[in-house]
Amino acid sequence: MSVLITGGAGFIGSHTCVELLQAGEEIVVVDNFVNSKPAAVEAVKTITGKDFPFYEVDLLDEEGLERVFSENQIDCVIHFAGLKAVGESVQQPLRYYHNNLTGSLILCRVMERHGCKRMVFSSSATVYGNPHTVPITEDFPLSTTNPYGSTKLMLERIFGDLCVPDPEWSVTLLRYFNPIGAHESGLIGEDPNGIPNNLMPYICQVAAGKLDHLNVFGNDYPTHDGTGVRDYIHVVDLAKGHCNAVRYARQHTGCDAINLGTGKGYSVLDIVHAFETATGVKVPYEIAPRRAGDIPTCYADPSKAKRVLGWEAKYGLEDMCRSAWNYIQKKQEREGKERRSED
Ligand code: UFG
Repeated sequence: MSVLITGGAGFIGSHTCVELLQAGEEIVVVDNFVNSKPAAVEAVKTITGKDFPFYEVDLLDEEGLERVFSENQIDCVIHFAGLKAVGESVQQPLRYYHNNLTGSLILCRVMERHGCKRMVFSSSATVYGNPHTVPITEDFPLSTTNPYGSTKLMLERIFGDLCVPDPEWSVTLLRYFNPIGAHESGLIGEDPNGIPNNLMPYICQVAAGKLDHLNVFGNDYPTHDGTGVRDYIHVVDLAKGHCNAVRYARQHTGCDAINLGTGKGYSVLDIVHAFETATGVKVPYEIAPRRAGDIPTCYADPSKAKRVLGWEAKYGLEDMCRSAWNYIQKKQEREGKERRSED
């Protein structure tokens, strides 16, 4: 039996493929490369020394998905595929709703047709909106502030509803906090197109000299240094959490939401300083106005993940910074070599 990973070429998806293969799972990967590259699939094979079926299929292509399920024995799906840029989702709401919701509905329909009723879903702490207090437990009220977040919350509800009439369905909603870092090989990591929206990729581009300085969005929040506080989690820790979630999904039915975070909150300036200490590279920054929609503080109570999945985060902040920077440096070396061989 195989685990199907939708969006398996993406940042979290590719790291999860590595951890699943190393845990002895068979995998099948689907990706449409809208926000990822074929090189990530090759890198997963290089890191693990293992091969697996890959399909360049969009979830909106029901016939394509049919073929994936007909040609493989799939007992569980980890569903990462989806558009994920908050600002873009505000500008292009229909595209986000259509892609994320319709694609997921088609996926569920094909799963049901093939008797595959186990889903681990890539949700987000964004479903907690602006939490009234921290740390955040899974029973906090849910709300969203942008179409991207709304698609995550709507999908949580849709997948939950599948479990109501059919006791065979098993749905694990994993609510991620802020994944950063990269695999130690430097072969996979976070590499957004254009100017990054998120903090760590932005810092890496400043460190690499591609951007002049970091804009720190607000220093007047009610936090220890005035800058926004988040729960940063190493993507490899997060990926390992998915292996535990697949094992859990095979033993349980019904719908369960679980936070994947460290339980520790760090400010933007904490991250800048940790990056400088871990890498020895300076990150010039300037204080800028608050970014619309940002909340002051967000960190997890991760105790349910420990209790239910037997999982907890192991890596510290400096590991996260060092590995993110290692990925960017290795990537620049690879691109330099490619350019030289073209000349
Ligand atoms: N920040 C800056 N400068 C930047 C980028 C970010 O100061 O150039 C700050 C933000 O204001 C925030 C912190 O760094 O305080 C983290 O910002 P990110 O954009 O990295 O992450 P967010 O917490 O805003 O959002 C992330 C994911 C979302 C997800 C959310 C869940 O990007 O997809 O966590 O809480 F919904």
